[in-house]
Amino acid sequence: MRAHDSLSPSPSSAPDPRVFVSRHPLVAHKLTKLRSVDTSPKMFRELIREISVLLAYEATLDLALEPTRVQTPLVECDGRELRRQVGLVPVLRAGLGMVEGVWEMLPGAEVWHVGLKRDEHTLAPTQYYANKPTAPRVQLCLLLDPMLATGGSAAAACALLKGWGVERVKYVGLLGAPEGVARLRAEHPDVDIHLAGLDERLNERGFIVPGLGDAGDRQFGT
Ligand code: PRP
Repeated sequence: MRAHDSLSPSPSSAPDPRVFVSRHPLVAHKLTKLRSVDTSPKMFRELIREISVLLAYEATLDLALEPTRVQTPLVECDGRELRRQVGLVPVLRAGLGMVEGVWEMLPGAEVWHVGLKRDEHTLAPTQYYANKPTAPRVQLCLLLDPMLATGGSAAAACALLKGWGVERVKYVGLLGAPEGVARLRAEHPDVDIHLAGLDERLNERGFIVPGLGDAGDRQFGT
């Protein structure tokens, strides 16, 4: 079985080659625990961290490497190395919990923060913070945000990154709704979407159903 399969947000349409819903058994197991109303904030944070690492592994399978030489204790041989780094872009605040584990795997990554808050009534995102890099040198940005609900926040964050000159963006999130996936695909057709799960729908308050509740509140105990 492959680590992930491309999946369409709508069962009736053809598979979308840019939407990847993980098929990794550990992701499914951990996502089930994450959904549970009985999971404590501490366990919730640990699960987010662990799932994020597994998703980032899948999202970085096509990173570009450069040839190099390496001296082992025995001989010199060919090797490959990552010269052009990756940018990690957590969307505040819920995306913060997705950074640490991925950063350990990519210690040379740059981390840029973007603050977006969704209005409870209109569901439209407002930007309240952005830490712009002086000159984007990265080969890829991983946009980290657990929830792809209406897709407004992810689409706004992608537009911001592209406005900064970032050429390649992948969205990495925990749960998506078909509405959010469709909007992000429509507004940013060049952005791959990596998810731990794709749920049924949004409710009248813009929450993903069945979902996992409010990812920010559950991480930070608010
Ligand atoms: C949540 C979530 C996303 C956004 C998704 O953040 O973390 O950023 O909503 O919704 P959308 O796809 O409809 O835009 P929220 O605005 O609640 O802020 P928080 O992370 O500070 O809790």
